[in-house]
Amino acid sequence: MSTGLEKLLAASSGLEALFQQDPLGLSEVRRVQEQLREQERVLQSVRPYLEQSHRAAQELQRQADLMAQASSSLSVPNDLLREIAKQQEMSQKLAEQVTGSDIYKQIQQQIAQIESVRIGVLGKNGLLSQRLKGLGALPPDIRKLEGERVNRAKVELTEALAETNNDLERHAVSARLLYERVDVTLPGRRAERGGLHPITRTLDRSVEIFARLGYELAEGPEIEDDWHNFEALNFPPDHPARTMHDTFWFPDGRLLRTHTSPVQIRAAKGRTPPIRLISIGKVYRSDSDQTHSPMFHQIEGLLVGEDVSFADLKGTLTEFVRAFFERDFEMRFRPSYFPFVEPGAEVDIRWDREDGTTSWLEVLGCGMVHPNVLRACDIDPERYTGFAFGMGAERFAMLRYGIDDLRQFFENDLRFLRQFA
Ligand code: FA5
Ligand code: MG
Repeated sequence: MSTGLEKLLAASSGLEALFQQDPLGLSEVRRVQEQLREQERVLQSVRPYLEQSHRAAQELQRQADLMAQASSSLSVPNDLLREIAKQQEMSQKLAEQVTGSDIYKQIQQQIAQIESVRIGVLGKNGLLSQRLKGLGALPPDIRKLEGERVNRAKVELTEALAETNNDLERHAVSARLLYERVDVTLPGRRAERGGLHPITRTLDRSVEIFARLGYELAEGPEIEDDWHNFEALNFPPDHPARTMHDTFWFPDGRLLRTHTSPVQIRAAKGRTPPIRLISIGKVYRSDSDQTHSPMFHQIEGLLVGEDVSFADLKGTLTEFVRAFFERDFEMRFRPSYFPFVEPGAEVDIRWDREDGTTSWLEVLGCGMVHPNVLRACDIDPERYTGFAFGMGAERFAMLRYGIDDLRQFFENDLRFLRQFA
């Protein structure tokens, strides 16, 4: 196995002849030989382990093949399983006898030692290089002969060194294979299955329920202009109701929409009733506490037709809440003000927290569409009436899943999110 080292030793005895007349050089050659013999001894001592590690590496390969075979056949035959278990036991035993990492370290040290031998002999100031430099001072006929000898020694040593290094690298690889062994029978790492975010679930669920009631889905941009977000919804400039809708503004006067109500305008403008639409999406406000986040989702609804009344609104929302939660939640309509409805209301749902306390959580705003809004949509308010509502998706999700701080929905903590997947 140590053919490289043996050749190296043989080549070094050729050096002896070269340095016969040079006591200093000769002692240097002896030192190099001693080093090489020491390396040879080291290699002899690890040889049995190296052989084992070669075998163990082969066994591991065999196991991997068997596993591949087993996993490609649908039902794993029993004798194959037994075979795998046997192989595993064998390579386990080998691995216990040989500590691959110790041998690996030893071999790395050998590689470093051999490199220092190379520098000592063939390096720029090495034995042979100095010898070559001295050639110029010799008479021409001796110079030629001497040059040939030195060069021959050089070639021999270089080849033997390369072979030794190859050997050692190979040993290092099998030692490493042994201690970095992979247990091919461990179950594989599956790609994790993703899940829908609880807010996505809430939105999907709401759309589904309203679709059953005959509502169609409408869309609008998150970057809105003042007219759609405010003016058409009957908020004149400087109207105090705007202060509750503080948001992020762009230099050109556009803004991140503060509610989904502008979609009412975009979708209804120019259309002839009956109109029945729903819209879902992100909205933005300068808000943050347990029940408010700066970005949240709304579910907007608009229904316009002849003889639409507040009773229709109340019935629709009650029906929705029942379908959404699949159980009875106490709910109350509380009079409220929005410039785009008249009358207006907010709906609260009774919230029994984990800690035993109870309060009312506002989940949506609603009302009968203001005649000015119908006019902004080119709809005749003398002929048609309608209702509208805007629900907070996070609030519905909080109640459905029993969450007491809605900001958790957006912290992206997988421990939290996995509970809903
Ligand atoms: C509105 O945004 C109106 N556009 C709703 C509306 C539509 C009224 C149609 C009449 C007709 P309000 O600002 O109250 O209303 O917000 C509606 C709901 O969004 C609230 O009831 C609440 O559930 C939710 N909400 C409001 N602010 C936040 C916030 N910062 N974080 C999470 N949810 C919020
Ligand atoms: Mg409100």
